[in-house]
Amino acid sequence: MTDYRLVYFSENRLPSSEIAQGLNSILEKSRSNNVMVGVTGALMFSVGYFVQVLEGPQAAVEATFERIQQDARHGDVQLVEFAPVAQRTFDNWSMAYAGRPEEASDDVADLAASSGFDPSRLDGDQLFERLRSRLLETA
Ligand SMILES: Cc1cc2nc3c(=O)[nH]c(=O)nc-3n(C[C@H](O)[C@H](O)[C@H](O)COP(=O)(O)O)c2cc1C
Repeated sequence: MTDYRLVYFSENRLPSSEIAQGLNSILEKSRSNNVMVGVTGALMFSVGYFVQVLEGPQAAVEATFERIQQDARHGDVQLVEFAPVAQRTFDNWSMAYAGRPEEASDDVADLAASSGFDPSRLDGDQLFERLRSRLLETA
Protein backbone atom coordinates (compact mmCIF):
# COMPACT_ATOMS: atom_id res chain seq x y z
CA MET A 1 0.00 0.00 0.00
CA THR A 2 1.23 3.48 -0.83
CA ASP A 3 2.52 5.50 2.11
CA TYR A 4 1.86 9.20 2.47
CA ARG A 5 3.93 11.90 4.06
CA LEU A 6 2.38 14.85 5.83
CA VAL A 7 4.41 17.85 7.02
CA TYR A 8 3.01 20.68 9.11
CA PHE A 9 4.14 23.35 11.51
CA SER A 10 2.31 25.02 14.34
CA GLU A 11 2.77 27.53 17.13
CA ASN A 12 3.41 26.31 20.63
CA ARG A 13 0.74 27.18 23.20
CA LEU A 14 2.40 25.51 26.19
CA PRO A 15 3.67 27.92 28.83
CA SER A 16 7.48 27.76 29.00
CA SER A 17 7.44 26.12 32.43
CA GLU A 18 5.41 23.22 30.97
CA ILE A 19 7.27 22.63 27.72
CA ALA A 20 9.53 19.78 28.84
CA GLN A 21 6.69 17.93 30.57
CA GLY A 22 4.29 18.68 27.69
CA LEU A 23 6.72 17.35 25.10
CA ASN A 24 7.22 14.18 27.09
CA SER A 25 3.52 13.47 27.28
CA ILE A 26 2.96 14.32 23.59
CA LEU A 27 5.75 11.91 22.62
CA GLU A 28 4.56 9.16 24.92
CA LYS A 29 0.99 9.36 23.60
CA SER A 30 2.15 9.68 19.98
CA ARG A 31 4.33 6.62 20.24
CA SER A 32 1.65 4.38 21.70
CA ASN A 33 -1.04 5.59 19.29
CA ASN A 34 1.10 5.63 16.15
CA VAL A 35 2.41 2.14 16.62
CA MET A 36 -1.16 0.81 16.64
CA VAL A 37 -2.09 2.43 13.32
CA GLY A 38 1.20 2.05 11.44
CA VAL A 39 2.17 5.73 11.54
CA THR A 40 5.82 6.78 11.88
CA GLY A 41 7.42 10.21 11.90
CA ALA A 42 9.41 12.87 13.66
CA LEU A 43 8.74 15.92 15.77
CA MET A 44 10.88 18.99 16.25
CA PHE A 45 10.36 21.82 18.68
CA SER A 46 12.17 25.07 18.11
CA VAL A 47 11.70 28.75 18.92
CA GLY A 48 8.05 28.38 19.79
CA TYR A 49 7.16 26.21 16.79
CA PHE A 50 6.47 22.53 16.33
CA VAL A 51 7.39 20.91 13.04
CA GLN A 52 6.13 17.37 12.52
CA VAL A 53 6.36 14.74 9.82
CA LEU A 54 3.77 11.93 9.80
CA GLU A 55 4.20 8.95 7.46
CA GLY A 56 1.95 5.99 6.80
CA PRO A 57 -1.26 4.81 5.14
CA GLN A 58 -3.34 7.78 3.97
CA ALA A 59 -6.36 7.13 6.24
CA ALA A 60 -4.21 6.63 9.35
CA VAL A 61 -2.18 9.78 8.68
CA GLU A 62 -5.37 11.79 8.10
CA ALA A 63 -7.06 10.52 11.25
CA THR A 64 -3.95 11.28 13.32
CA PHE A 65 -3.63 14.76 11.86
CA GLU A 66 -7.34 15.45 12.57
CA ARG A 67 -6.74 14.77 16.27
CA ILE A 68 -3.52 16.75 16.33
CA GLN A 69 -5.24 19.81 14.84
CA GLN A 70 -7.75 19.84 17.72
CA ASP A 71 -5.01 19.88 20.37
CA ALA A 72 -4.92 23.06 22.45
CA ARG A 73 -1.22 22.63 23.25
CA HIS A 74 -0.50 24.23 19.88
CA GLY A 75 -2.37 26.41 17.40
CA ASP A 76 -2.31 27.99 13.94
CA VAL A 77 -1.55 24.57 12.44
CA GLN A 78 -0.31 24.99 8.87
CA LEU A 79 -0.20 22.02 6.53
CA VAL A 80 2.75 22.28 4.15
CA GLU A 81 2.81 18.91 2.41
CA PHE A 82 0.63 15.83 2.03
CA ALA A 83 1.71 13.50 -0.75
CA PRO A 84 2.49 9.87 -1.57
CA VAL A 85 6.09 8.80 -1.02
CA ALA A 86 8.05 5.90 -2.47
CA GLN A 87 9.38 5.02 0.95
CA ARG A 88 9.30 6.20 4.53
CA THR A 89 12.21 8.07 6.06
CA PHE A 90 11.43 7.54 9.74
CA ASP A 91 10.29 3.94 9.48
CA ASN A 92 12.13 2.94 12.65
CA TRP A 93 10.46 5.60 14.78
CA SER A 94 6.84 5.67 15.92
CA MET A 95 7.70 9.30 16.69
CA ALA A 96 11.30 10.46 16.74
CA TYR A 97 12.17 13.61 18.63
CA ALA A 98 14.77 15.89 17.09
CA GLY A 99 16.35 17.13 20.32
CA ARG A 100 15.98 16.13 23.93
CA PRO A 101 12.80 17.27 25.70
CA GLU A 102 14.70 18.26 28.87
CA GLU A 103 16.75 20.68 26.78
CA ALA A 104 13.79 22.14 24.94
CA SER A 105 13.56 25.33 26.98
CA ASP A 106 17.25 26.07 26.48
CA ASP A 107 16.93 25.27 22.78
CA VAL A 108 14.18 27.81 22.47
CA ALA A 109 16.08 30.58 24.20
CA ASP A 110 19.30 29.87 22.29
CA LEU A 111 17.73 29.57 18.89
CA ALA A 112 15.44 32.54 19.34
CA ALA A 113 18.42 34.62 20.35
CA SER A 114 20.49 33.53 17.36
CA SER A 115 19.01 32.36 14.12
CA GLY A 116 15.34 33.35 14.16
CA PHE A 117 13.89 30.08 12.89
CA ASP A 118 10.70 30.83 10.98
CA PRO A 119 9.04 27.73 9.48
CA SER A 120 6.60 29.79 7.42
CA ARG A 121 9.53 30.78 5.20
CA LEU A 122 10.41 27.17 4.36
CA ASP A 123 8.53 24.81 2.04
CA GLY A 124 7.67 21.17 2.81
CA ASP A 125 10.91 19.75 1.44
CA GLN A 126 13.01 22.29 3.33
CA LEU A 127 11.17 21.65 6.59
CA PHE A 128 11.48 17.92 6.05
CA GLU A 129 15.24 18.20 5.37
CA ARG A 130 15.73 20.40 8.39
CA LEU A 131 13.99 17.90 10.63
CA ARG A 132 15.87 14.99 9.13
CA SER A 133 19.30 16.55 9.48
CA ARG A 134 18.58 17.77 12.98
CA LEU A 135 17.51 14.28 13.94
CA LEU A 136 20.72 12.81 12.56
CA GLU A 137 22.77 15.42 14.44
CA THR A 138 21.17 14.53 17.75
CA ALA A 139 20.89 10.76 17.23
C1 LIG B 1 2.70 18.89 18.43
C2 LIG B 1 1.85 17.69 18.67
C3 LIG B 1 2.12 16.49 18.03
C4 LIG B 1 1.33 15.36 18.24
N1 LIG B 1 1.61 14.21 17.57
C5 LIG B 1 0.79 13.14 17.72
C6 LIG B 1 1.03 11.94 16.98
O1 LIG B 1 1.96 11.82 16.19
N2 LIG B 1 0.16 10.91 17.18
C7 LIG B 1 -0.89 10.99 18.05
O2 LIG B 1 -1.64 10.01 18.20
N3 LIG B 1 -1.11 12.09 18.78
C8 LIG B 1 -0.30 13.17 18.63
N4 LIG B 1 -0.52 14.30 19.37
C9 LIG B 1 -1.56 14.26 20.42
C10 LIG B 1 -2.94 14.46 19.84
O3 LIG B 1 -3.17 15.82 19.65
C11 LIG B 1 -4.01 13.90 20.83
O4 LIG B 1 -3.85 14.50 22.09
C12 LIG B 1 -3.89 12.41 20.99
O5 LIG B 1 -3.74 11.78 19.75
C13 LIG B 1 -5.16 11.87 21.67
O6 LIG B 1 -5.03 10.49 21.82
P1 LIG B 1 -6.11 9.62 22.61
O7 LIG B 1 -7.41 9.84 21.87
O8 LIG B 1 -5.59 8.22 22.52
O9 LIG B 1 -6.13 10.15 24.03
C14 LIG B 1 0.25 15.44 19.16
C15 LIG B 1 -0.03 16.65 19.80
C16 LIG B 1 0.75 17.76 19.58
C17 LIG B 1 0.45 19.04 20.30
